[in-house]
Amino acid sequence: MSKQPLIIFDTTLRDGEQSPGASMTKDEKVRIAKSLEKLRVDVIEAGFAISSPGDFAAVKAIAETIKDSRICSLSRAVRGDIERAGEALANANAGRIHTFIATSPIHMQHKLQMQPDEVLAQAVGAVKLARNLIDDVEFSLEDGSRSEFDFMCRIIEAVIDAGAGTINIPDTVGYGEPEEYGAMIGRVIAAVPNADKAIFSVHCHNDLGLAVANSLAAVRHGARQVECTINGLGERAGNASLEEIVMAVRTRHDLFDVETRIDTQHIVPTSRLVSSITGFPVQPNKAIVGANAFSHESGIHQDGVLKHRETYEIMKAEDVGWNTNKLSLGKLSGRAALAARLEELGISFDSKEEFARVFARFKELADKKREIYDEDLQALVSDVQTGSEQQSIALTHLEVLSKSGQLPTAKIAVRYRDQEHRAEAEGDGAVDAIFKAIEQMIDSGTELLLYSVNAVTQGTDSQGEVTVRLQKEGRVVNGQGADTDVLVASAKAYLNALSLMRNPGRLHPQLGGV
Ligand code: KIV
Ligand code: ZN
Repeated sequence: MSKQPLIIFDTTLRDGEQSPGASMTKDEKVRIAKSLEKLRVDVIEAGFAISSPGDFAAVKAIAETIKDSRICSLSRAVRGDIERAGEALANANAGRIHTFIATSPIHMQHKLQMQPDEVLAQAVGAVKLARNLIDDVEFSLEDGSRSEFDFMCRIIEAVIDAGAGTINIPDTVGYGEPEEYGAMIGRVIAAVPNADKAIFSVHCHNDLGLAVANSLAAVRHGARQVECTINGLGERAGNASLEEIVMAVRTRHDLFDVETRIDTQHIVPTSRLVSSITGFPVQPNKAIVGANAFSHESGIHQDGVLKHRETYEIMKAEDVGWNTNKLSLGKLSGRAALAARLEELGISFDSKEEFARVFARFKELADKKREIYDEDLQALVSDVQTGSEQQSIALTHLEVLSKSGQLPTAKIAVRYRDQEHRAEAEGDGAVDAIFKAIEQMIDSGTELLLYSVNAVTQGTDSQGEVTVRLQKEGRVVNGQGADTDVLVASAKAYLNALSLMRNPGRLHPQLGGV
């Protein structure tokens, strides 16, 4: 019997970006969207268009670039949000407005301060308005898993009549338990008279570590869309992880009567891209995409795998894109070879100048590092793109003196407000000295929340990818920098974070009233 399609709705660029510090620039979002398209994700939630001019521009750019995935914008159930989402999606090949309102007693009473009937009327009005702008509308019952069953069925019936084609019942606070949540989805589908006119969707948060289990239980009870994110990125403990959902359905096809259209070989490259852009490393023991997910340490396991792979492996590493980290290019590779490889990685450029900067950096890297892998190219492009966006504070010179028994000293020069500034500082370590020298010039008033270094490839000649997370007045940003010299990468990451801090913030979709 042929399987039914399971729609994969990726919200890395919207809910994923709500993780403190995971904010991305427009260009970074477009790069991730291209990778998601290559992964063959059905729906990409590109952002929350009303939240800031930057979010609007990102949704619009993604809608204008991506052809093979449907592009969606979130909107609260209010006119301004819905119209802004419609505007951002105007040029999409296939677009969707995703509108939501909370339906649980606790949210309606304390957050919205509205009566259930008012919420119902607002939901219906929002769906009708959205349907006047676009033919594909999704409606979400925020905090669905804690909503009253009869009220939920009433509102779902009404919004389907108003034109919603997808009904999403989120476990917003990660409170659900698989049997209970799955059964609830099944009961709703059975109880709503016009349920056959909509696709039922789930969106689970991972506060109890159950997001994937809850989503899969719902699929077994009739959900046909799962909302998820790459690497499980997302608000608080994150969302259900796309790679785990997709591989569970595929590996246990004996249990699931659904199939996705995901190109699984593109899972690991997409995971790496998201990790490198957001600065959120993937834990080594993370299922599917963690560095240890397919490595066997124990002799007994190694012996078993060598004799017959399936003794200890339920999936093939190459099926999810491991071992595809090809030796990409070398010192003698020219522009055409670089452009072709970048194209294969889903990376394209807005201008010839940007490609020229990438090519120049590639040549510099090839002088320092004999073997250049796909991961190197990803990091290099991220670094160039971040660099071009933070021209207001750019690193022009760095010198660090580190001697055993003495405090390290950093001398640094940056271009800031069209002038070169220089400073020198001592620190408890070389990185500390660099950050202190920068602060002498800029006096940002920020607090350092995180400093992390990740080796992009194996070997001591690897590029170091540095993330610096800064906080100021409740706003958190992540800066990135990559270089074979970890100290240069650290300086770039700090300057990038300071530049991002200067950009305006955005509105959070789930705070405050409607
Ligand atoms: O978690 C949630 O309920 C959401 C909705 C806005 C869909 O992210
Ligand atoms: Zn969410």
